[in-house]
Amino acid sequence: MQQIVLSGIRSTGNLHLGNYFGAIKSFVRMQHEYNCYFFVADWHSLTTHPHPGDLHANVKSVLSEYLACGIDPEVCTLYIQSDIPEIAEMYLLMNMNAYIGELERTTTFKEKIRKQPDNVNAGLLTYPVLMATDILIHKANKVPVGKDQEQNIEMARRFGKRFNQIYGTDYFPEPEGFTYEKNLVKIPGLDGSGKMGKSEGNAINLADDAKTIHQKVMKAVTDAGPTEMNQTPPEVIENLFKLMEVASTPEAVAFYREQYAKCQIRYGDLKKQLSADIIQFTAPIRERILEIQSDDAYLAKVVSMGAEKARISASATLKDVREIIGFRKF
Ligand code: TRP
Repeated sequence: MQQIVLSGIRSTGNLHLGNYFGAIKSFVRMQHEYNCYFFVADWHSLTTHPHPGDLHANVKSVLSEYLACGIDPEVCTLYIQSDIPEIAEMYLLMNMNAYIGELERTTTFKEKIRKQPDNVNAGLLTYPVLMATDILIHKANKVPVGKDQEQNIEMARRFGKRFNQIYGTDYFPEPEGFTYEKNLVKIPGLDGSGKMGKSEGNAINLADDAKTIHQKVMKAVTDAGPTEMNQTPPEVIENLFKLMEVASTPEAVAFYREQYAKCQIRYGDLKKQLSADIIQFTAPIRERILEIQSDDAYLAKVVSMGAEKARISASATLKDVREIIGFRKF
C-alpha cells in the first residue's frame, strides 16, 4: 500500500527562502511520490494568535504561497484544518487518554509558557493532542517536519500506541517523523548567525518585492574584511556565500570566494549581485502569489476540493474510532 505523508503548515507569518529550500521543496517533490496530505493548521494558530483580525488573511496568504510554490491541489490533498469537523471530535476523544503530566513536560509547552506567560491556555497544553489527531486521523506513516517538531511526533506515536493498547487493537500505524533539514541546505539568515527564520527578523520572504529584498540584502551583517590570504571566512561571511549558492550561478559564487581568498573582496558588490539574483529567483514566485491571492474563486475551489478529499479519510477513521471506543447506535 502507498505510504501516507502528512504535514501541517503554521498559518502565522509569511514564507521565506528558508522555508522554500526546506519544507516546500520537499513537499513539492513528495506529492508525486506518496499519498500526501498538507493542511493549514489554523486551529493550532489560535493557541498563540487568538485575535480574529488576521486569521483569515493569514490562512489565505500561506495557502496562496504554497500553491505558488508548486503544491498541486489536484495531486495531493490540500486543506484547511478547521474545515474538517471530524478532527475536532477525534481531538476530544484523544484528550481523554492524554495525561496532564506528560503534556506539561513537553519542551514546546514550556517554551510557550515562557514566551506568553499571560496566555497559558488549555489549547497550548493540548497542542500535541491536536497535532497527534491531525496525523492519526489520516493514519499517516510519515510526517515531514522541522527538528523543533520531533517531540510532537513522538507524542503522536505515543498517543496512537496508547490507543491501540487501551482498546486492544492495532488500528493506528506508528507515524514516523522525518526531518528534511538533514538532507537539505540550511539557509542562513541575514544577521550573521543561525538560520533564516520568521521570528528572527532576518528573513527574505517569497512575497517581498524587489526593493524590500534589495534593502534587506544590503543591510546584511558583514565584517571588516579578510586580513590574510586564503583565510577561512567567518560565519557572517560564509552565510552570504551560502545564500549565493542557492540563488546565484556557480561562476558568481566561485568569483566572490576567490576575491575573498585574495583579500580583494568588496562586500557591496557581492551584496548587489546577491540581491539581484535573489530577486530574479523570487520574482516569478511573487507574481504567482499575487495572482493566486487575487483569485478568490480559485482559492474557494481549492479549499472545498481539499476539504472534500480530506473528509473522506477523516470520517472513515472517526467512524472506526467511535466503534472501537464503544459508541454504538441504538
Ligand atoms: N506544529 C507544527 C508546526 O508548528 C504544525 C502542525 C500542526 C503539524 N499539526 C501538524 C505538523 C501535523 C505535522 C503534522 O510547524
